Amino acid sequence: MSNANILPKEAAGQHIPVLLDEVVDAMAPRDGEVYVDGTFGAGGYTRAVLQSADCRVVAIDRDPDAIKRSEALKDEFGDRFQILDGCFGDMASLLPEAGFNVVHGVMLDIGVSSFQLDEAERGFSFMADGPLDMRMGRAGESAADVVNTYGEEELADIIYNYGEERKSRRVAAAIVKDRATVPFERTKQLADMIERVLGRPPMKKGQRAVHPATRTFQALRIHVNDELGELRRGLEGAEAILSEHGRLVVVSFHSLEDRIVKNFMAERSGQQAGGSRHMPGPIDAGPAPTFKLKNKGAVKPGEEEVGRNPRSRSSRLRLAIRTNAPAWVPAREGRR
Ligand SMILES: C[S@@+](CC[C@H](N)C(=O)[O-])C[C@H]1O[C@@H](n2cnc3c(N)ncnc32)[C@H](O)[C@@H]1O
Repeated sequence: MSNANILPKEAAGQHIPVLLDEVVDAMAPRDGEVYVDGTFGAGGYTRAVLQSADCRVVAIDRDPDAIKRSEALKDEFGDRFQILDGCFGDMASLLPEAGFNVVHGVMLDIGVSSFQLDEAERGFSFMADGPLDMRMGRAGESAADVVNTYGEEELADIIYNYGEERKSRRVAAAIVKDRATVPFERTKQLADMIERVLGRPPMKKGQRAVHPATRTFQALRIHVNDELGELRRGLEGAEAILSEHGRLVVVSFHSLEDRIVKNFMAERSGQQAGGSRHMPGPIDAGPAPTFKLKNKGAVKPGEEEVGRNPRSRSSRLRLAIRTNAPAWVPAREGRR
């Protein structure tokens, strides 16, 4: 049976977990073991793992709304489920502080949940007008702070590097010009300005319409939430905390994230020269591999899933299994 069928109605209706069956297969939950869901969201992965074996799940989420939503799982699974309010990039310290020194699996589902995207007030979407916010954890610099205070060159770099927007300089120049008169406060205000400056590209037959603000919004979201830094720290944290044979399962949604996961797994499994700045020494005599790769390449969603949940289209799952070699970055150094 597909796990999609065992989700409660409201969760399935609001955030459809991506590659759910594949994630559970990759985690291979077993009775008595402890798994980490670093991106709790709507709890889709957590619930499916808890239903698959008599195991425990320690979840993490930085979004206070996700923490509130987790109450239902506490009622349902009792002390087999626990949630920590924080960033998965800090798991190497968060988990031991909560009493978990070693775990048997870590799963990460990178990005935002449909709850976050669909709620205009969170400011992630250019489709619905809301405050220009985009902070998953509701703390720190908002997207409006970035857009209204950063220099033109810095804005262009963010939009180019994190949004892969070729016209980043034009967007950054227009932001700086417009904000001198009226600061950017709303998502629609920024999206309309970008559309005015870049126009809508002519569409070829069969192509999907992509709003010209898509790349800039992705870039701001990644920057505001330090998503790539979190991912790097999360991978190192998983390396520090996983037991031998422990499973690291990562689902990512765009090439910037997938490249980080792919390179980390290739390096740590000895398939790519890397070495570590934390472990000086000759590269060819580098540290012993901390992971083995199970699949050749990434697992992608099938046609049925993409038809049922178009958001899954670009998803990629990668799995690596922990060896008994010492972590390349000791947990102490992995902490911020
Ligand atoms: C794509 S959703 C996860 C959905 C989940 N797998 C499910 O099936 O319901 C991502 C979630 O991870 C959280 N998140 C993203 N980055 C995070 C980070 N660095 N630390 C903690 N939580 C994070 C977001 O707040 C969001 O709730």
